[in-house]
Amino acid sequence: MMRAQDDVAIASFNQNSETFRSLNQLMWQIPLIAMTLTGGLWFGVSKSETSPLFQICLLGLSTAGNVGLLIVLYRLRYVMERYLSWLQKFDENGFVSAPGKDILTKPYMVRSTFQILLLLAAITSVILMVATMKTAGWLGDDSSARAVAFYERQAKDLAENYELIPFEDAHPVLFNELGGKPPRAILDVGAGTGRDVSWMAANGHSVIAVEPAASFRALATRLHPNSSPHWLDDRLPKLEKLTAQRFDWIVLSAVWMHVHPKDRPDALARLKSLLTPSGKIYVTLRSGPPDQAREIYPVTVEELRDISRPLGLKLQEYGEREDLLGRTEVKWRTVVLSQ
Ligand SMILES: C[S@@+](CC[C@H](N)C(=O)[O-])C[C@H]1O[C@@H](n2cnc3c(N)ncnc32)[C@H](O)[C@@H]1O
Repeated sequence: MMRAQDDVAIASFNQNSETFRSLNQLMWQIPLIAMTLTGGLWFGVSKSETSPLFQICLLGLSTAGNVGLLIVLYRLRYVMERYLSWLQKFDENGFVSAPGKDILTKPYMVRSTFQILLLLAAITSVILMVATMKTAGWLGDDSSARAVAFYERQAKDLAENYELIPFEDAHPVLFNELGGKPPRAILDVGAGTGRDVSWMAANGHSVIAVEPAASFRALATRLHPNSSPHWLDDRLPKLEKLTAQRFDWIVLSAVWMHVHPKDRPDALARLKSLLTPSGKIYVTLRSGPPDQAREIYPVTVEELRDISRPLGLKLQEYGEREDLLGRTEVKWRTVVLSQ
């Protein structure tokens, strides 16, 4: 009888020792799993610059993965502790206990170290996620933030097409008004790659280019090193950086559709305040399907006329034109507002 009980106890001891060893191995594998998971996901993020949504999903997965492993580690070490205390009770004399007292030797030190690393990885993923959301324009109340973030990402690809169109083809109305004429003070809002401002500056006009996308500003100075417009990082509706200057022409080429309809009256009032008494605002208005990625809002000549009237601005239409980038579904109307 005694013999049988001893056999069962020894079998339990062997079984529990074996299980403890497996759990211990598993615990040491958790950092490796975490590193592989986090590294893979962060690599994915670095390779998907064009899709902030995908980047945010990957970073969310990385945060959840690290927090999940942190919890698993907690539970695993708890179960291991139960096995350890059983083993200790089974053979008090043969059990090697290590109840260290200082920070480096005390129990749970390994678990805590792993958990701190997992927590740091999770926090880094959250920080990257918030930063990605910010750059993608998902946070904050700036209505054109997403559009600007789009241009920020796509500047290089778009620049090639924008630059293929000569100024005179893009803006025949302005070409007639400015070509070979005395110098004018001109403000180009949303100046993009600088195609238009470089032509205006080269034709003797004094030009300020406002462009909120840093990558466009950088490209513009590289593409047109000899032109001399002054570049400003600013945006509608406030255009806060312009103070004393007044302009004979304000140009909004393919920009008005990025201004949220609720911001348009303020934006136009601000533009008007920047005009000389005989100054004019040149606007091209897009009609075509919405474009979610660029955050394009509908625009119509009628809406612009309605906003212009109370400001004392008269709207003159110059008809509809095809899209010079070849998009058959997109058309452009040119209008000029004068006081
Ligand atoms: C379609 S691109 C046109 C660029 C240039 N005007 C052209 O015709 O080639 C639109 C431009 O508007 C800028 N933009 C978007 N929202 C803006 C805002 N709220 N204020 C000023 N510019 C803005 C973008 O950064 C981008 O450069």
